[in-house]
Amino acid sequence: MKPIQVGLLGIGTVGAGTFNVLKRNQEDIRRRAGRGIEVTMVAARNTERARSVTGDGVQVVSDPFAVVNHPDIDIVVELIGGYELSRELVLQAIANGKHVVTANKALVALHGNEIFAAAQEKGVIVAFEAAVAGGIPIIKALREGLTANRIESVAGIINGTTNFILSEMRDKGLDFATVLAQAQALGYAEADPTFDIEGVDAAHKLTIMSAIAFGIPVQFDKAYVEGISQLQAVDIRYAEQLGYRIKLLGITRRTTTAAGEGIELRVHPTLIPAARLIANVEGAMNAVLVHADALGVTLYYGKGAGAEPTASAVIADLVDVTRLATVDPSGRVPHLAFQPNQMSDVAI
Ligand code: HSE
Repeated sequence: MKPIQVGLLGIGTVGAGTFNVLKRNQEDIRRRAGRGIEVTMVAARNTERARSVTGDGVQVVSDPFAVVNHPDIDIVVELIGGYELSRELVLQAIANGKHVVTANKALVALHGNEIFAAAQEKGVIVAFEAAVAGGIPIIKALREGLTANRIESVAGIINGTTNFILSEMRDKGLDFATVLAQAQALGYAEADPTFDIEGVDAAHKLTIMSAIAFGIPVQFDKAYVEGISQLQAVDIRYAEQLGYRIKLLGITRRTTTAAGEGIELRVHPTLIPAARLIANVEGAMNAVLVHADALGVTLYYGKGAGAEPTASAVIADLVDVTRLATVDPSGRVPHLAFQPNQMSDVAI
């Protein structure tokens, strides 16, 4: 069978990682997907640099709309970030009947409802495993592995930059600005690092997990968001002396108040007893703790950022979409579509 054809929008850190892992593991990936997955087109601002990654045989263009409008492209992989141009591109790809894989948490957190509705209408898949916790397959865990469960809460360290900053400040006594510069140099931080520091990036990811875990629409604007910019070295030291670690946690859980049932969504620095597993998640690592009624507690731990960890999640989605789109040529894949359930109107 002819390989499925993929168009990449953006070939920065994650794009290059995706291209390289697809190439390196192509035989295993082809066997698992049931057919080859081939990147045939790439859109990049710097086409020269893009060609140095892709080599020959891949069409490199500067206009991303040339990719989403190309009749031969089956799956568009959106890796350009931001949420305006990327929204337009993703909606256009969907309108053209293409499946979409994205690593863009801001896009899904802010425009997910519109995008999923358009995808459902058109019968295409929008997959976004790489948008949350990098390479950790947390979306699949919530949606597939835990599908039998009623999920009570999801909480975790879902921003590598801030966890790296807090770890380095504690272990090496470095100041905030020095460690932030290191996180930027290591490629963990967002283009605008205030998204990391002020908890916005974590809130994007939390909003997405909350929607999946509880079957509610994506509601970023309802989240309480507080970052780590007000923390000082002395806070970290005192916490340590008292037997605690400070972690930036994202927490979403069911609540019951006099007003009825609801869902809580919050991101803020949290004191955690030092003996807890999650208190010992260091550096840029991520960890997500899920409480579910049948399984109990599970902890998902791994690299939450970086080229190949994120590529691992992007390619997992590519394989899923390829399998499903190949089995059902209409591309209608209900269980991967985003389907808010009867709790859609639950207040957050
Ligand atoms: N800036 C993000 C982080 C990158 O530090 O976790 C991965 O989403």
